[in-house]
Amino acid sequence: MSEPVLDVRDLTIEVAEPGGPRALVQGLSLSIARGEILGVVGESGSGKTLSAFAIAGLLPPRVRVAGGEIHLAGRRIDALSDADRRPTRGRDVGVVFQDPLSSFNPVRTIGSMLIESAQRHQRTTESDARDRAIQSLRQMRLPGENASVDCYPHMLSGGQRQRAMIALALINRPALLIADEPTTALDPTVQLQILALLKREAADRGCLLITHDLSVAAAICHRIAVMKDGRLLEQGPTDRLLTEPEHPFTRELIASAPSRRSLMAAL
Ligand SMILES: Nc1ncnc2c1ncn2[C@@H]1O[C@H](COP(=O)(O)OP(=O)(O)O)[C@@H](O)[C@H]1O
Ligand SMILES: [Mg+2]
Repeated sequence: MSEPVLDVRDLTIEVAEPGGPRALVQGLSLSIARGEILGVVGESGSGKTLSAFAIAGLLPPRVRVAGGEIHLAGRRIDALSDADRRPTRGRDVGVVFQDPLSSFNPVRTIGSMLIESAQRHQRTTESDARDRAIQSLRQMRLPGENASVDCYPHMLSGGQRQRAMIALALINRPALLIADEPTTALDPTVQLQILALLKREAADRGCLLITHDLSVAAAICHRIAVMKDGRLLEQGPTDRLLTEPEHPFTRELIASAPSRRSLMAAL
């Protein structure tokens, strides 16, 4: 078997507090193979986003990886300094967040952000980078002859902005795509379109899909991991997890999934 795109072993994340460090995530182990989509589900505050931030090297101040290892595309990255990490971010991992309006700079065009990212990681002329940006946006089915490359974020619909965010996350062809609640702010029809896009884009990389909504994970994930209170409760292939959950909390999640019909359609 080829090595996993992502391999997280016994990860602990702590925040520094006046009384001493407090663990926010404890003993998290997961791995993602090439072509695989892993869903991480759990209620708000269970540690999903912090785990993603640790993998992407985006932990906030005072929060740090205090134990365990993170291997990304065959390289151990948790021990790297921020300065060593920065040049590869965007190339080894691309991240899509819930709200692209607040992730995009409102006074810059979509294209300028894609071009900047492409130029940071690849030796290209501005004009080549622009072609690359248009191609990337076109793949995400952004409308218009130039695929909205000269549009400002507010000129796009919520779904289009999320497509542009995915284009930005993928422009340097990262080994791993992390999507943190990528469809939570979108209406159901658009949600399904974005999930279909993510599924397509995960085919030749690894994908970590974070969601509080089990039916979203069930729709496209090969495997699902359930988190609660900073710990992993259980993980397994999607159909096994939905039909034979081991943990009572997972049973509750299944029973209360907002869209039981799409949950069942995933089986
Ligand atoms: N910068 C921070 N400082 C202190 N605690 C934090 C910080 N960020 C998140 N937390 C806490 O860590 C826990 C996990 O947060 P998070 O990973 O954002 O949860 P989720 O994404 O599952 O909703 C929560 O209890 C949250 O309050
Ligand atoms: Mg979160």
